[in-house]
Amino acid sequence: IRKAQGEFALAEDFGFNLQGSDPHSSARFGELHTPRGTVETPVFMPVGTLGTVKGLTVDQVKTTGASLILGNTYHLALRPGSERVERLGGLHEFMGWDGPILTDSGGFQIFSLSQCAKITEQGATFQSHIDGRKLELTPEESIRIQERLGSDIAMVLDHVVALPAEREVVRDAMQRSTRWASRCLEVASRQQQAKFAIVQGGLDVELRQESAQGLTQLPFDGYAVGGLSVGEPPPEMYRMIAATTPFLPADKPRYLMGVGRPIDLLEGIARGIDMFDCVMPTRNGRNALAFTWQGTLRMRNAKHADDRRPIDETCPCLACRHSRAYLRHLFIAGEMLGPILLTHHNLTFYQQLMSAARKHIAAGSFGEWLPTQRGVIDSISQ
Ligand code: GUN
Ligand code: ZN
Repeated sequence: IRKAQGEFALAEDFGFNLQGSDPHSSARFGELHTPRGTVETPVFMPVGTLGTVKGLTVDQVKTTGASLILGNTYHLALRPGSERVERLGGLHEFMGWDGPILTDSGGFQIFSLSQCAKITEQGATFQSHIDGRKLELTPEESIRIQERLGSDIAMVLDHVVALPAEREVVRDAMQRSTRWASRCLEVASRQQQAKFAIVQGGLDVELRQESAQGLTQLPFDGYAVGGLSVGEPPPEMYRMIAATTPFLPADKPRYLMGVGRPIDLLEGIARGIDMFDCVMPTRNGRNALAFTWQGTLRMRNAKHADDRRPIDETCPCLACRHSRAYLRHLFIAGEMLGPILLTHHNLTFYQQLMSAARKHIAAGSFGEWLPTQRGVIDSISQ
């Protein structure tokens, strides 16, 4: 058990190996060891909320280069239920993914999806976004659910507030999140599952630091930065990351939750982040938006109608075996292959972006490379 001899222990077979860092920024690269394999960082995790990365088979997800994927406690607990997933052999067996899985705790989903969520010291009560049932999620129950799902990395339950909010409201939620994080560690019983804490504190540098300092007193396997990308301007988000990472231990992985655009990932890496997840490549792919090294392309645009070129000549994905004209046709005709192919392309692009960042950090050129990407990978070329 985790609490051997009255002391908290870190997860077994889990560890972060920092391999190098950039001399001109806080960027770093390393290896995250999990019981289901090693993950090279910086890493982007495709979102597989309901036990599927929407539109792709697990083999297709693998061929994008993804090594670690994300699942959601909130969604899986509502449907099909964590007891059922456990009976069926756990989430890996259930969905057929044998690589590592990180599960989010439900804190953010209650904040963003459920109606009339009420937070007390005990936990969150909320209405299911599916059938309106009244439910309760406590820090302990979130961990028990994630243990039943059998993910390799579990996140603590946190209290996320909508911004803007009064400082006292943000402080109160941040301090509660720290108390909840401690309760999560106390109840954790699966030694093979890593536990990550989540820094909160809104857009307030002092509160972010207080949060990081409180959480790093506790023996977590990694630390996330939460409560960002909720509508604030990107420079504000970058400022919060820069204010937080210096207060996190250098020898533990750092995860920026729910972010973001390709440029946000690079700006996060420059400020010391190792892990990311976001629905952007998958959701936007289903909606005909393609990410490229030259910016985004709207694949429904009439300008692609007779274009024989692939989205990207050098991309190894399934979409780039076809012309832009064909991909546009699939979307205009409402064919399901369009969303599938663009999801594969976008996830492949995100993986290549992480791999390029890693190579530049290792070569010591990340600091020169990042400015060449600003205004380019985030441009909109229709
Ligand atoms: N996903 C994106 N942001 C957050 C956050 O602040 N907390 C949790 N639990 N998940 C997130
Ligand atoms: Zn492609």
